[in-house]
Amino acid sequence: MLILGVETSCDETAAAIVRDDRAILANVVLSQLEEHRPFGGIVPEIAARAHLEHVDRLVAEAMNQAGIGFSDLDAVAATGGPGLIGGVMVGVMTAKAIALAAGKPFLAVNHLEGHALTARLTHDLPFPYLLLLASGGHCQLLAVLGVGQYRRLGTTIDDAAGEAFDKVAKMVGLGYPGGPLVQKAADHGDPNRFALPRPMKGKPGCDFSFSGLKNAVRLLVETLAQPLSEQDAADVCAAFQAAVADSIGDRTRRAIAQFRQDWPQGRHVVVAGGVAANTALRAMLEKVAAEAGLTFLAPPLGLCTDNAAMIAWAGIERFRLGLTDSLDFAPRPRWPL
Ligand code: KG4
Ligand code: ZN
Repeated sequence: MLILGVETSCDETAAAIVRDDRAILANVVLSQLEEHRPFGGIVPEIAARAHLEHVDRLVAEAMNQAGIGFSDLDAVAATGGPGLIGGVMVGVMTAKAIALAAGKPFLAVNHLEGHALTARLTHDLPFPYLLLLASGGHCQLLAVLGVGQYRRLGTTIDDAAGEAFDKVAKMVGLGYPGGPLVQKAADHGDPNRFALPRPMKGKPGCDFSFSGLKNAVRLLVETLAQPLSEQDAADVCAAFQAAVADSIGDRTRRAIAQFRQDWPQGRHVVVAGGVAANTALRAMLEKVAAEAGLTFLAPPLGLCTDNAAMIAWAGIERFRLGLTDSLDFAPRPRWPL
């Protein structure tokens, strides 16, 4: 079975061909970074126009790389939401047009389900598993019981983890997107020079909060000489990253306890979403999983950040269960799992 996946929900235009034996035949991603950089963040109108300009070429490139034609496909999948609606519309219309012209089924994939199932594309991973989904727009702990079957154990009560990384990067004078730059700076920093709060640590439940930490970083930065020296910026980044990893570690520990009680057959802790690319966070999760005797799994970095292989794969998982969508599907800016 061969599925074309299209991803256009944020600032990456992407197309991929994935086979049901988990072979990724093509996986092309075009980042719009340069188009948004002057604005220090994603501008939805610019994103939508850039998707429109590039999506056809990227689909053609993926088809060429895989050495197939549309008639070889079994179905066409696109991110149907949640995301920036202009971009989602571009991907959905593209996929619908190909599906209609080639006489293939169409699948609208929830972007979060794409992230949630990615580890099953790269690993032999049975349901149920505990998932930390941490991206620019989301931070959730989920019990993944099956395709389309998710139980939310915790979520952020304010900002997403990736958003906090991006804001902190701005505060210390690093560019956009912040996550990778904060991590790089933190590599040269001392995480113990500044004391920062560990949001929600020790509180009941598994929810997250990052706005208080973000504010603490803002106040801390104001006490330092401006513009920040490279060392000050590195130390702030290291302290912030350690606080995030600590806080997420604490929340995940609690979620594991609940997961093991409700789904004792589950053996895996999995991470997904752009923030899953963070090595300090990965190390923390590995430690927390090992403490509980569970196995930690993380997809390779390139499949953690937005891509279309995860959409094609979620399409395969849904197609196997007969969960196709009608061409009437309306893109969904909001679409909780
Ligand atoms: O999943 P993703 O690519 O897009 C969304 O669906 O949001 O996640 C993007 C987010 C951004 O906030 C980015 O700063 C963050 O993931 N990110 C990281 C790292 N790489 C990307 N955060 C921390 N450390 C990283 N290495
Ligand atoms: Zn994403």
